[in-house]
Amino acid sequence: MVYTAIMGHGTVGSGVAQIMIGHESLVKEKIKDDIEVKYILDLRDFERLPYSDKFIKDFNIILNDDDVKIVVEVMGGINPAFDFVKACLEKGKSVVTSNKELVAAKGAELLKIAEEKNVNFLFEASVGGAIPILRPMAQCLAANDIYKITGILNGTTNFILNKMIVDNTDFDVALKLAQEKGYAERNPESDIEGLDACRKICILASLGFGKHVYPSQVKTEGISNITLKDVEYADNFGYVIKLICYASKNKNGTINAYVRPTLVSKDNILSSVNGVYNAIMVTGDACDNVMFYGRGAGKMPTASAVVADVIDCAKHLTARKFLSWSEGNDGYVENGDEKTALYILAKSENYDKLCLDTEKIFGKDIAVIKNKYSNEIAFITGTELNSVLEEKIKQLNADSIKCMHILI
Ligand code: HSE
Repeated sequence: MVYTAIMGHGTVGSGVAQIMIGHESLVKEKIKDDIEVKYILDLRDFERLPYSDKFIKDFNIILNDDDVKIVVEVMGGINPAFDFVKACLEKGKSVVTSNKELVAAKGAELLKIAEEKNVNFLFEASVGGAIPILRPMAQCLAANDIYKITGILNGTTNFILNKMIVDNTDFDVALKLAQEKGYAERNPESDIEGLDACRKICILASLGFGKHVYPSQVKTEGISNITLKDVEYADNFGYVIKLICYASKNKNGTINAYVRPTLVSKDNILSSVNGVYNAIMVTGDACDNVMFYGRGAGKMPTASAVVADVIDCAKHLTARKFLSWSEGNDGYVENGDEKTALYILAKSENYDKLCLDTEKIFGKDIAVIKNKYSNEIAFITGTELNSVLEEKIKQLNADSIKCMHILI
């Protein structure tokens, strides 16, 4: 018999319980042994559930029960999740988590403890919801030097942007819908301002490139400044706006990494990743581009990945799995100048001069949409070094300027 415990009975935790307890026979069949959820840790009361008798409020009951070999952490946040997970690993229990904030901040440290104690610390659900990405990257693509990762990694923002594009829905209304569907974080700012996506690209880059990338090292911009007008201009130019996460290796051993709203051409496969779906393009020297796609958020898709990790742990109680990376360091992320193209929305009281200057500075051949009534002009630049484009923007002398990168 394998005993497990679940810490947290929120959106994901209740999904995990639903599969582990509701589909017990299926899970048993997979591990070829009996498996039971012995405890569910949550400070709230859940009296009407068929498994109400499993709820406890004291973490030490789990920690001190030597029969519990696998602990699922789905509480979210760093505190107290970090202390609980660390204590479980140190006690020789394997831990499965969906907590991207925890893994992005403390992954290297926790993996090291797991290695020392010869137990597993698995977190497939922390990136891309139901999408298998960490295992495939670490195992199936093990023969590659992975040098680039590009992805749409936040279901909430992708859902919002898609609603704005397809249904002309206002930002706030779309966010409310995402919350109702259980996609958004408890504090939706984590989604909207790109923090959640940042944590996920940190985990992917750490695993893919072998050294911890910390969220504070990644330049992160969310979607709170995107308006329906931007969406419409982008559409007219043949693009959709997506929150793109990116990480790539430089020749000198450093990496580039960022999260930012980006115009993606309608010809690019990432443009058709809609709603709550996520997609990750991993590029390696032997495999070239490999794409992973699926539901990136939501109770059951995320629980699916958590329970798969539990099954994996149960099947390998005495064998270590494959995930590892080393501690990171200052200066490891070094975003240098880049070749890029920009979407620019400029406004000026002196509208005619703005139009003339734009042509003079950016060339006659650029794609432009002019709107005399609002004194604004939207255009797409050619591809140049970012520093060169920044210099050109300074020369425009507009009253207000908004820029967004284009995925090239
Ligand atoms: N809030 C997250 C998202 C949940 O929208 O992608 C899944 O990690």
